[in-house]
Amino acid sequence: MYVVKSPLSDANLATVSEALQGALVDLVDLALVAKQIHWNVVGPRFRSVHLQLDEVVSTARAHSDTVAERAAALGVSPDGRAATVAVGSGIGVTPEGWVDDSAAVRSIVDALGAVIARMRERIAATGEPDPVTQDVLIQVAGDLEKQHWMFQAENG
Ligand SMILES: [Fe+2]
Repeated sequence: MYVVKSPLSDANLATVSEALQGALVDLVDLALVAKQIHWNVVGPRFRSVHLQLDEVVSTARAHSDTVAERAAALGVSPDGRAATVAVGSGIGVTPEGWVDDSAAVRSIVDALGAVIARMRERIAATGEPDPVTQDVLIQVAGDLEKQHWMFQAENG
């Protein structure tokens, strides 16, 4: 069912919708993973890591909404269901249980790195088909790379 007419050709829309759906899934999972670590971190740097992780949650949640609504604006139904996220996320397995602060930082650095790499592929793929979507993804990547920097500095 198509409710919203897309300004893009079918071929361009296919590329762009794949990029936006992939970005949505990664960002929803990133928010979940960051909360999981936020709750489970222990150790001398608990407070700084705990608080910094909530910045990742806020960033990921805000961008997931922007990305989903960009898809909707193009006539593509966004799918942020848990089962879809579980299957499609590019983030590896997050360890179960308590996690010491250094391991917590490594874990979020890895998660951010995985999402950033995929986001940059999407930026490359969407430039020609839809620069407006590419611009959205560039904003996402910029904010994630800022978080990536700060967490790498935590373990520096
Ligand atoms: Fe909290």
